[in-house]
Amino acid sequence: MKANFTKLLVLFVLANFTRAFGQQTTNPAVEAKIEALLKQMTLEEKIGMIHGNSSFTSTGVARLGIPELTTSDGPHGVRPEHGRDWVLDKKGNDSSTYLPVGLTLASTWNPELGYAFGSVLGAEAKFRGKDVILGPGINIIRTPLNGRNFEYMSEDPYLISKMVVGYIKGVQDQGISACVKHYLANNQETRRDGINVEMSERALREIYLPGFKAAVVEGDVNTIMGAYNRFRGQYATYNDYLINKILKGEWGFKGIVMSDWGAIHHTKEALMGGADLEMGTDLAMLPLPKYDKFFFAEPALKVVRSGEVPESIIDDKVRRILRIMFKTNMIDAKRSAGALSTPQHAEVAKKVAREGIILLQNKKNILPLNKATVKTIAVIGANANRDNAMGGGSSQVLPKYEVTPLEGLQNIAGSGVSMRFSQGYSIARNAGADQKLIQQAVENAKSADVAIIVGGWTHGYDYSKWDDNAYDAEGFDKPNMKMPFGQDDLISAVVKANPNTIVVLYGGGAIDVRQWVSKVKGILQAGYPGLEGGNALAEIIFGDVNPSAKLTVTFPKKLEDVGAHKLGEFPGDSLNVRYKDDIYVGYRYFDTYKVKPQFAFGHGLSYTSFDYGKPVVSSSGNNATVKFTLRNNGKQAGAEVVQVYVKDKKAAVKRPEKELKGFQKVFLQPGESKEITLSLDEQAFSFFDDKQMKWVLEPGDFEILIGSSAQDIRSKAKLKL
Ligand code: GLC
Repeated sequence: MKANFTKLLVLFVLANFTRAFGQQTTNPAVEAKIEALLKQMTLEEKIGMIHGNSSFTSTGVARLGIPELTTSDGPHGVRPEHGRDWVLDKKGNDSSTYLPVGLTLASTWNPELGYAFGSVLGAEAKFRGKDVILGPGINIIRTPLNGRNFEYMSEDPYLISKMVVGYIKGVQDQGISACVKHYLANNQETRRDGINVEMSERALREIYLPGFKAAVVEGDVNTIMGAYNRFRGQYATYNDYLINKILKGEWGFKGIVMSDWGAIHHTKEALMGGADLEMGTDLAMLPLPKYDKFFFAEPALKVVRSGEVPESIIDDKVRRILRIMFKTNMIDAKRSAGALSTPQHAEVAKKVAREGIILLQNKKNILPLNKATVKTIAVIGANANRDNAMGGGSSQVLPKYEVTPLEGLQNIAGSGVSMRFSQGYSIARNAGADQKLIQQAVENAKSADVAIIVGGWTHGYDYSKWDDNAYDAEGFDKPNMKMPFGQDDLISAVVKANPNTIVVLYGGGAIDVRQWVSKVKGILQAGYPGLEGGNALAEIIFGDVNPSAKLTVTFPKKLEDVGAHKLGEFPGDSLNVRYKDDIYVGYRYFDTYKVKPQFAFGHGLSYTSFDYGKPVVSSSGNNATVKFTLRNNGKQAGAEVVQVYVKDKKAAVKRPEKELKGFQKVFLQPGESKEITLSLDEQAFSFFDDKQMKWVLEPGDFEILIGSSAQDIRSKAKLKL
């Protein structure tokens, strides 16, 4: 017994020690079992394991007790069953909790919620018999037009790094695998399956890699999904530099690199380029079952038999798959049951929505509404009574229910308040402003105490059925930032009829609000807040919940103001997209180039206010500590996300005006104060030197900026390192 304990102790220390030094660890006992299995496997059996054998599974080796690996989408809920070959075989029990989308989760700036979110997702995936849930999606939001922004988290790598770790641990502590995606630089949907992304080494290291590095090194993620696009001329899913050198080399990733569905286009290049598992290859022209024709099937057998590819390359891939199978109790072990669509899970979804819906504007404190005095509310807009769960593409979810904004308002206001609904606009091909619908909405608003317009993007999927202006979904980007279906005219007409107008924006990110932003009083950004989103929205509107969310993306005034469009290319030409915006993504561009955004990164209002005390900054070596008092000087309990940005006063290279390097969500009772302490490590001050190919901290003067958003800096302090 004693020997065992000592061994475990050694393992524990080793695991934490190596993790501290940024390497994933392996367990010698498991490795021995893997070797024993490998020795018994034929080459055919090994090859079978590295490619799909149905739409979402890959082959096992039954005679050796190795099961199939079963995957399922998606990042904010377990996708409804669609059978082994995309033939819908609806089982009764494939409803799942429709959690808020990634963008809304990130807008909570609350890593603990990330863990709770991941726990729900992991428990439900386990219940539905999935070994891998294909999320989180963490691609950098480089432009407001990317169709999948809703599914991702932010424009800022540090914020992503903090939110992704909790999510992954939440999923994997349930005993199944997360799959961080899409590695790397899948920042647009236009020509996603072939476009070649060119970017500098600094942009790669300082902006696009850190979220994935945190997922691997801190989150210990079991699997990673390669992206469709090319990177510097080679497909990302088997890009020697990204996969072999950085992911498996520098970061010591020991898990599985699976392709995105149909992202493998070669056999030898992909086997050597580091892809471990081929999924979803599109051989549409072939009859089912086509899986033996996959690049990693018969063609792979051939190149190994011919000696072009050493068998050891295949062995490493099989090792990785077996390693994750052992780690998630798929071999010689039993998993716990998990749970599906429970009230407790819905509560987590509601909590995320409550902390993820952003109050952008609140003129004359029109919000919160008072249930006692407000008698009639005009609820206007197609998004007010529309379900979104099944929208968006592969990340779709089929929940038992979804509370719409209209239902939520009715639920929370109670019978004393009458809600009068008008559609306001219609979602249809080339639909412009519909004067009849606008007129109905205006009549409704005129005689109401308050008008709440719920609009924004439309969470389509196959929106080839709709307007040319395609919306929030996989496979397509948006053509512009304009409000679709004539909503600008609707909002302008309604606010003329009733100045007490509040606009609620659904959707994956920034929208051009210039036409009416100065006329309406309240604006909320709701993202896609999940199956309880309508209730959470209404609780915020009526003040049962004090909003605490913050923007994780800059809201530009207009598209031309965005770095990717001003300095860079989007969506590039037929072959390449060059990220000439470089490290100037999001607020890094707006602040450095002195462009005023509509709403800043990190912006989000509360029903109370917070006082930031004078900061004291101390340093020891290349680490610094920032201390200050935060006080809630309002009458309502609330939470503030204090943000710490670092500015390098002088550097040998160009650096952004400032960069987020610390934050904390602080909950305070009315009048309560708390001593905030934030530590900044060496990394917070360093930049990547692409000459020396390493991170460098140049001694000198820095400035620490503490704020409630990137534009709302409350205090500053100097620091010399
Ligand atoms: C899709 C998506 C990916 C998804 C996969 C399986 O095309 O890009 O995120 O997990 O294919 O549906």
